[in-house]
Amino acid sequence: MDQEFLKDVCKGLEQSPKKLSSKYFYDTRGDRLFKEITTLPEYYLTRAETEILEEQGALISNYVKENDKALEVIEFGSGDGMKTAILLRKLGAGGISYSPIDISMHVLRLSYENLSDQVPEIIVDPIEASYDEALDILLSRPRSGKRLILFLGSNIGNLAMPEAQKMIRGMAKILDEGDHLLLGVDIKKDPETIRRAYSDAEGITAAFNLNLLERMNRELESNFEIQYFKHYAAYIPETGEARSYLVSTREQVVNFPGAGKEYKFSENEAIHTESSWKYDKQMIEELIQDSGLSQTASFSDRRGYFQDIVFRKMG
Ligand code: AVJ
Repeated sequence: MDQEFLKDVCKGLEQSPKKLSSKYFYDTRGDRLFKEITTLPEYYLTRAETEILEEQGALISNYVKENDKALEVIEFGSGDGMKTAILLRKLGAGGISYSPIDISMHVLRLSYENLSDQVPEIIVDPIEASYDEALDILLSRPRSGKRLILFLGSNIGNLAMPEAQKMIRGMAKILDEGDHLLLGVDIKKDPETIRRAYSDAEGITAAFNLNLLERMNRELESNFEIQYFKHYAAYIPETGEARSYLVSTREQVVNFPGAGKEYKFSENEAIHTESSWKYDKQMIEELIQDSGLSQTASFSDRRGYFQDIVFRKMG
């Protein structure tokens, strides 16, 4: 049993209000459900970013590449590498290495297969690690060329501002003057459009959220009764926070024999499982404050729903 997972879960369930970390969504089933989410009509994010990379990838490439210099591409939260393949193809052949970083070995393997298949000339060197572990590894790893960090897909959206700032500063630290970060952020928009993206009609997002309980039952031997929890998503327009919850539909007790603990849920008690932050111009400025990064260009889809932003490390 993964003691760290168990300890983290117990800590979250002992808080009031209860919470669980969204990083635990991604077991093999979670990976599959997330992939399905990216194809849902309501979930515009992946399509919007794919549009940006397909139509403006060549332009982005001009900002981040230097002629005749090897490029070391490092991607945090790479997932299966489908979108990245589009960008890597635009970055062109010639001395590109690619290090995808993900906590899911399962998607790293998929990404390796996708990339070897679609851009065989690129050397892929996956890192199975958390973001913090990866930053540590990269801080001491000799660089193989001009660095480009990718943090796409609104993955930064899972972090509240202080943690997001810390993450960006950590990334800036492994960059030299003239290196770049390409960041994908979801933009504040019609609140209803955002809320629906996290509460689709087919219930795939609900299944994705509920899978967290099933994963704990499988891996931590807890006894959540899934049928007595339901998915609920809310969006707060002033702050840009989409919040997802699992709500207990009745009074119940859940056991974690591995920890000798039990947790009581009252009827309608909610576990906060995920935040997905949406950005505006002011928040982007706040995000990169004191990081040594400076925005050099931003690319948007036709509807203005999503942005991929290029930041340059200053001397
Ligand atoms: C993978 C973190 C970008 O927050 O939009 C999708 C995850 N959660 N539907 C997001 C997710 C519910 C997604 N990220």
